[in-house]
This record gives sequence, C-alpha cells and structure tokens, in this order.
Amino acid sequence: MASHSFLIVLVLALCHSSAHGAAPASSHNPTQVTTTPTPPPNVANEFLQPHNQARAAVGVGPLKWSEMLANATSRLVRYQRNKMGCQFANLSDSKYGGNQLWSSGMAVTPRMAVDNWVQEKNYYNHTDNSCAPNHSCGVYTQVVWRKSLEVGCAQATCVKEQASLTVCYYDPPGNIIGESPY
Ligand SMILES: *[C@@H]1O[C@H](CO)[C@@H](O)[C@H](O)[C@H]1NC(C)=O
Ligand SMILES: *[C@@H]1O[C@H](CO)[C@@H](O)[C@H](O)[C@H]1NC(C)=O
Ligand SMILES: *[C@@H]1O[C@H](CO)[C@@H](O)[C@H](O)[C@H]1NC(C)=O
Ligand SMILES: *[C@@H]1O[C@H](CO)[C@@H](O)[C@H](O)[C@H]1NC(C)=O
Repeated sequence: MASHSFLIVLVLALCHSSAHGAAPASSHNPTQVTTTPTPPPNVANEFLQPHNQARAAVGVGPLKWSEMLANATSRLVRYQRNKMGCQFANLSDSKYGGNQLWSSGMAVTPRMAVDNWVQEKNYYNHTDNSCAPNHSCGVYTQVVWRKSLEVGCAQATCVKEQASLTVCYYDPPGNIIGESPY
C-alpha cells in the first residue's frame, strides 16, 4: 500500500474570539481526590506524549487525557467519515479548542498527526506572537496553550477517498485572539 509514500497533509486550527473564550470553565467540581487515575490506553498516550513533550519544551505543564473529549471527537470523526468523505469538520461553533489534520496517501499515526502540528513551531515567533506567511501556527499554539488543561482525540479513515482525518479537542479552548499561548 505504501510503495509510493506520497503524503499530503493539511492542518487546521480553531481560533476563538475573546468573548467566546470567556465561557464558564469551572462549573465542574474537581474530583481528583476520589480515584487514582487509571493510565490512559495506548492510543491516548500516543496522542498525549508528543503534546506534553512540546509543552515541556516551552515550560508549559502537561495536558490530561479526557475520555469525554475523546468520545466527542470520536463521534465527530465518525460523522465526517460516514457523511463527509473525511473532510475537515466545521468547528466554528465548538466550545472546545480544535486541531485537525487531513491526510491523503497513507495512514497517519496519532504521533505523526501531533508531530505535524508541532512542526509549525518553526514558523511561530513567540516574541511578538506572530506566524510566518502561509503557515498555520494555530495548530502549534493550541498544542502548547497553557490554559488548555485537557485533550481528547480520535481518527477516522475513508477507504474510498484514501484519506484520513484526525481531530483533537482542547478544554478550555486555546487560540484566544489577542492572547499569547504561554
Ligand atoms: C466514552 O465512551 C466509552 C465507550 O463507548 C464509554 O464506555 C464511556 O463511558 C464514555 N466516557 C465518557 C466520559 O463519556
Ligand atoms: C461553519 O459553520 C458556521 C456557523 O454554523 C458558518 O457560518 C460557516 O460558514 C461554516 N463554515 C464552513 C467552511 O462551512
Ligand atoms: C520575532 O519577532 C521579533 C519582534 O517583532 C523580531 O525582532 C524578531 O526578529 C523575530 N524573530 C524571528 C526569528 O523572525
Ligand atoms: C502565500 O500564498 C499566496 C497565495 O497562495 C501567495 O500569493 C504568496 O506568494 C505566498 N507567500 C509566501 C511568503 O509564500
């Protein structure tokens, strides 16, 4: 299947206006004390580790895996697979932050997807929070967004279109316009 390893990748990040970003973030009581957290399954770790490595590289604390967010992205990518040929989802009304990766030509592992987002770091200038022309630093800034605490992700593959879609949700959302990620 991969004798011609031709890979096209497109990434998309969601930006939130500050008004939207001011959504209530604290109506859930913290319940960490009641249970010892079970280690997330492997696929969760494959998503989580490259996120947290990129965050540690700039002094930002780790994200926690959220089964609720993972389930939400799982429902979303299944819908995009079944109805939309694995195109990007429209997340403009989402209350979460969202990173997406569409790829054609070969399967993409969770780590490859996150690594693609993190590569945009090369085009990001933290001094003035700017991005080189024609690049999408938003996927990187969402990965390292300090105020985002939880992540959940899922992937789907469309056989006919030979494409796959990866989506991660972040809570609270990052990429608040006018704010620096860290
Ligand atoms: C997520 O989905 C799994 C499998 O369907 C289910 O067992 C679990 O309760 C769900 N968790 C949350 C937090 O929604
Ligand atoms: C996404 O949805 C919003 C609101 O539902 C709509 O205004 C916008 O045009 C949609 N964007 C695309 C690319 O379809
Ligand atoms: C980043 O932005 C600052 C301020 O605008 C500028 O002085 C610096 O040269 C930029 N760095 C790079 C690598 O472009
Ligand atoms: C960015 O993309 C536009 C439109 O595709 C193109 O006209 C422009 O030359 C590109 N700029 C750079 C710096 O590559």
